[in-house]
Amino acid sequence: MSVSSPVPASPAPASAASAADTAAPTQAELLDFVRRAAADAELIASLPLDPEGRTWVRLEGPGGSEAWLIGWPPGTGTGWHDHADSVGAFVTAAGELKENALAARLPTDGWKTLELSEGVDRERRLPTGKGRAFGQHHVHEVLNESDDRHAVSVHAYYPPLPQIRRYSRTGPTLRLEQVERPQDWQ
Ligand SMILES: [Fe+2]
Repeated sequence: MSVSSPVPASPAPASAASAADTAAPTQAELLDFVRRAAADAELIASLPLDPEGRTWVRLEGPGGSEAWLIGWPPGTGTGWHDHADSVGAFVTAAGELKENALAARLPTDGWKTLELSEGVDRERRLPTGKGRAFGQHHVHEVLNESDDRHAVSVHAYYPPLPQIRRYSRTGPTLRLEQVERPQDWQ
């Protein structure tokens, strides 16, 4: 599979009452969930790997969150994107990933290109077992820079992703290229 966005499974049926009664999971709870999932060797081994492109398996996240197990062949990445109003967490379960992120709060709407100021770039290496949580409007790209080793990671988002904004980047200039909504992924 080599499509560029996750393909969500049908939302799990949830009664209005249970949705209203469930407290939204915190970033810490999402991080705890992805860490536990990443430590589940049987679960990680269940992900089909494809040398040609990323692969996904949808997981049941805590508190109605959207969770994914993702396989990354060498040299693959997401491109720059954000997750709108969702918070999230992810952890590397096998191999190593790199995250490039912006330490800046960007306006969410009403712009097409934005010139980033100096010093907003952050880079972190996430070897097996390392992860992070992130808040709303977190802008990043995630890459497997290995020449020869697949990576596997676990991700969780809450609320379930309403949209993903995709950006291209040329030097300091970020350009909004596409807004993907769940219906685009089906
Ligand atoms: Fe992301």
